[in-house]
Amino acid sequence: MRISVIGCGYLGAVHAASMAQLGHDVIGIDVDATKVHALRAGRAPFYEPGLPELLKDSGATGRLSFSTDMADASGSDVHFICVGTPQVHGEFRADLTYVNAAIAALRPHLRPGDVVAGKSTVPVGTAEAIAESLEGTGAVLVWNPEFLREGFAVKDTLHPDRLVYGVPTDDEGVPTAEGARAKEVLDEVYATPLSEHTPLVVTDYATAQLVKVAANSFLATKISFINAMAELCEATGADVTRLADAIGYDARIGRRFLNAGLGFGGGCLPKDIRAFMARAGELGVSDALSFLREVDSINMRRRVRMVDLAREVCDGSIVGKRIAVLGAAFKPDSDDVRDSPALSVAAQMQLQGAHVTVTDPQAVANAEAKWPDLHFAETALEAAKDADVVLLATEWAEYREVEPDALAEVVAHKRILDGRNVLEPAVWRAAGWTYRALGRP
Ligand code: UGA
Repeated sequence: MRISVIGCGYLGAVHAASMAQLGHDVIGIDVDATKVHALRAGRAPFYEPGLPELLKDSGATGRLSFSTDMADASGSDVHFICVGTPQVHGEFRADLTYVNAAIAALRPHLRPGDVVAGKSTVPVGTAEAIAESLEGTGAVLVWNPEFLREGFAVKDTLHPDRLVYGVPTDDEGVPTAEGARAKEVLDEVYATPLSEHTPLVVTDYATAQLVKVAANSFLATKISFINAMAELCEATGADVTRLADAIGYDARIGRRFLNAGLGFGGGCLPKDIRAFMARAGELGVSDALSFLREVDSINMRRRVRMVDLAREVCDGSIVGKRIAVLGAAFKPDSDDVRDSPALSVAAQMQLQGAHVTVTDPQAVANAEAKWPDLHFAETALEAAKDADVVLLATEWAEYREVEPDALAEVVAHKRILDGRNVLEPAVWRAAGWTYRALGRP
């Protein structure tokens, strides 16, 4: 099929390359000429494992191209909307500027029968408004949320754990003839994953939009639940990692996403739960999501607690202390520093008078652009030189495997803060380190 992908960020670039890999003819469109140039040259504009290889493979087939000109979307059968929906500055709600601009720019190039597939995370009600704005073009809108995780984006796109289509429905919730036809078009787009028995949920617009924010809210709640337990563990001398293991054996609970530590960040979970609360307020059902306010507070408290813990191990003051922070990205295998807990803690400690040196295998450039006042180093050992405290803030494999003895040779004081509960306390203590973590004795 001929496919256009509008917006080539973390979501769109991976989607475009993956669709070409699945055998489609794809044009990726973005207003950012630098990004388009990089993608055209087969270079990923951000760090995502597997993406450079995928761009190279798909590029070699001649089925993948990129453009800044929306006119190049004309002639495509399906147009995926993959632009960002950031949080409005100073408010909770989502900024729909980019979605609306993309639709307005695409509209003149649509032909009757084209399918517009919305992938951006939007407040419920947006799809209905977009469908209305497309009236007269003969194009049909499907809401097709995306569930990819950064760091696993290629795998999640080529082998998703489910597909959701929100199609136009009648008053009884049954897909209209137009909706049924649009479903067939998307079935063709996703023929390969569907042939691998990927579960498919076909539903109405509202449900499809809600699925996405409900899923992210659940994940955020799960993380904040275990971080709340970490607070209890801290008050009682219990160990949150053992607690998570033990409750995780109950299949109804499950161990995944029960890793306590610095909490969630990134371009999705934090802003999605806030936008969801804002939308619930507009719909007059804010009570239904008031728990998300607590989820958000628990999450932000972890960052404050980590700064306090640094103070504690430094005998009451971090002023003038040298602190090495291992990790700047919001999670490993990503260079994304949006709302990164690691960077937020590093910046707080620097603002409170510490001399903070941050390192990250991929995210230093992005971190430096955001917090130029921090100090940066290439490697963990370089960052830890003469450090009074070392904080593991993002659990990159290379930081999990750091040798206590190797680190001991460069630091001024053997104090380690494990912000992600991934180190073996006994090993570090046996090597003479003061080991502290969130929710662990
Ligand atoms: C998240 C969802 O997991 C995806 O399903 C969704 O598609 C995506 O948002 C999106 O809306 O686009 P992502 O932001 O890539 O994906 O990252 P996650 O793997 O969900 O991690 C989010 C944050 O939670 C990270 O800061 C991570 O360190 C933290 N986390 C995760 C924990 O603190 N504990 C855990 O047990 C798991």
